[in-house]
Amino acid sequence: MITHLQDTVMLNNGIEMPGFGLGVYKVDDGETALFSVKTALKAGYRLIDTASYYKNEESVGQAIKESGVPREEIFVTSKVWNNQQGYESTLKAFDESLKKLDLEYLDLYLVHWPVTGKYKETWRALEKLYADGKVRAIGVSNFQVYHLEDLLKDAKVKPVLNQVEYHPHLTQEEVKAFCEKKNIQLEAWSPLKRGDLLDEPVIVDIAKKYGKTSAQVILRWDIQNKVITIPKSVREERIAENADVFDFSLTDEEMKKISALNINDRKGPNPEDY
Ligand SMILES: NC(=O)c1ccc[n+]([C@@H]2O[C@H](COP(=O)([O-])OP(=O)(O)OC[C@H]3O[C@@H](n4cnc5c(N)ncnc54)[C@H](OP(=O)(O)O)[C@@H]3O)[C@@H](O)[C@H]2O)c1
Repeated sequence: MITHLQDTVMLNNGIEMPGFGLGVYKVDDGETALFSVKTALKAGYRLIDTASYYKNEESVGQAIKESGVPREEIFVTSKVWNNQQGYESTLKAFDESLKKLDLEYLDLYLVHWPVTGKYKETWRALEKLYADGKVRAIGVSNFQVYHLEDLLKDAKVKPVLNQVEYHPHLTQEEVKAFCEKKNIQLEAWSPLKRGDLLDEPVIVDIAKKYGKTSAQVILRWDIQNKVITIPKSVREERIAENADVFDFSLTDEEMKKISALNINDRKGPNPEDY
């Protein structure tokens, strides 16, 4: 389990990835994205999660340059969008992302959604990018167990990570157990359920006990569950607040109470519909 903001976890290909980061979905390109990413890097974040779909890769790249933090100390994730899937089109999408980010390489490139009939060809392209040294690790997002089993049948390279919607209302037990068994790291998107969980009484009570906020309790629950988490914020005080989760620990009983809030409720789309 990570104990500091810049601590890393080792992925199944030997690469070290920070266990905590910043997400930038719905962060406008330009001033807002620049501010958010620069503020996070200044606060000590070292993992930034973007995607071609977010349309802010240019500002993310600019923020990385202007931050003064050496490139090799920052772990950058991007993703191939659904309409870019397929072998050649994924290779092209990757080059476009790299160009927009103005980087020499990516740390992690993900298949954004398991598009039926496409994700295996897309994966072959990711394997090629990995073999060519253009990306340090490759993974998937929104893959259910049956998608992973199908992919693993033909994959030459095992995904290092699966990024899925994950929060106390959607604890993803099956996917989590499968990924643990296969040594595929789980990463949480919408860890705060975009704000919907902050008034949950169980979480509010625990937060009061520790003098922490609901957001901090949820993010701490991710860390103790060994799930990499990437909360999004465009506000300086929340970017700092979200990362201030290394000075308290939830008890086993509190961890269980939070997990028991699961109602299999999604904020985003169901991967089975792709
Ligand atoms: N792979 C995928 O399909 C997928 C899908 C969705 C998201 N993601 C990734 O996961 C990241 C995180 O998910 P998300 O952006 O959907 O949702 P989230 O991180 O759960 O929640 C973000 C929302 O919560 C607010 N917030 C942040 N910190 C807060 C705090 N301490 N107290 C109160 N409110 C707070 C933010 O507002 P302010 O910005 O105004 O602070 C924003 O409205 C994304 O940015 C993206 O990188 C991936």
